[in-house]
Amino acid sequence: MLNGKKIVLGVTGGIAVYKAVELLRLFVKSGAEVHVIMTEAATKFVAPLTFQTLSGNPVHTDMFNLISEQEIGHISLADKADLFVIAPATANIIGKIAVGIADDLLTTTVMATKAPLLLAPAMNVNMYDNPIYQENEAKLRKLGYYFTGPVSGYLACGWDGKGKMMEPAEIFEEAVGVLTDKDMAGIKVLITAGPTLEAIDPVRFISNHSSGKMGYALAKVAKRRGAKVTLISGPVSLPEPSGINFISVKSAKDMEEAVTACCNNNDVIIKAAAVADYRPASISENKMKKGEDKIKIDLVKTPDILANLGKNRKLGQVLIGFAAETTDLINNARKKLEKKSLDLIVANDVTLPESGFNSDKNIVKLLFKDGTVEELPSMAKEQVAYKVLDAAIKLKAHSTL
Ligand code: PMT
Repeated sequence: MLNGKKIVLGVTGGIAVYKAVELLRLFVKSGAEVHVIMTEAATKFVAPLTFQTLSGNPVHTDMFNLISEQEIGHISLADKADLFVIAPATANIIGKIAVGIADDLLTTTVMATKAPLLLAPAMNVNMYDNPIYQENEAKLRKLGYYFTGPVSGYLACGWDGKGKMMEPAEIFEEAVGVLTDKDMAGIKVLITAGPTLEAIDPVRFISNHSSGKMGYALAKVAKRRGAKVTLISGPVSLPEPSGINFISVKSAKDMEEAVTACCNNNDVIIKAAAVADYRPASISENKMKKGEDKIKIDLVKTPDILANLGKNRKLGQVLIGFAAETTDLINNARKKLEKKSLDLIVANDVTLPESGFNSDKNIVKLLFKDGTVEELPSMAKEQVAYKVLDAAIKLKAHSTL
């Protein structure tokens, strides 16, 4: 994902330095070349050797180190960066950048870079609330610097409040977002994800194995690409993605209500959710007692949310469905594409290993309304999301319906 990207990771002195190690690991894992600059204070928390070992590059701590200045040099670091990230960013470094102080390697390199800069502040809650800090942050935001966090929580200084550094996975996601072309800016996307739960009694339900991974990957990637995203999710154990409009639902009926309430406000609708086709005709008020050897539960059809969207879609809206199939993939998926009046259906053979429900990867075929088929190899659900969204952008550009 960050293949070939050059990231300079600035690390300043705070207890959250240990989390910067995980952030570095995420950058390296996704293919980035990372160069770490640590302030002297940062080296008191975690030894530079840890960052050096994980980045595979020398860690820079000293502006006047003759060897590293000759081999790399702070100006070269500033020039070569595609992105500059400072995590944790103390009130001190933010204050220095805000007033243009360049008195060590990190501040000097920041001053010299033209790369976008993402700051992940971490500090005591009273420092964070201090109007001087707030003014510095506001000034830097206005100048185009990116900020992620801080969040509220228990702080190392013993206070409970805002000042905790954002988790590494979220800083990573923000960094990817900064580096991603905003080719979906101005497009509103509604995505559904996960299973639905159809209650039998207060403790039992009918559901399926959807983990939400496919739908959440679509939401994450659409947000990265600048779309305004609404994610309607059935019950899953994934963390709520930040920076999007998130609506949590349980049953097919709840999902239908939520989708109906916001469908007209969206340009693209992608239904990755595995909605139950049937629900119990009635829900027992109390827990059903064990009795007979065999029991019957009457099931009735749930509303077909996607088919209704197909019937009532607004002018120019793009409608994309998924089809989870165990037999005759193409024919079954094409029938759904036609019956539900879709522009595209993502045909998903859920019998293949490493595909479909709960897997991190997926193997799909994109079936378009005009009869064309795009077969995709096995790829991470995030990569599938890029492909589906590429198609959505093209369909949106040509949509006249
Ligand atoms: O969540 P994961 O673990 O990552 O798994 C991903 C997935 C396998 C769930 C996903 O890739 C997928 O295939 N989703 C569609 C599953 C499904 O319910 O397919 P279907 O063939 O039953 O439904 C066809 C389409 O109609 C779907 O877009 C579905 O959201 C929609 N539908 C179905 C029934 C219904 N009552 N209302 C609907 O809107």
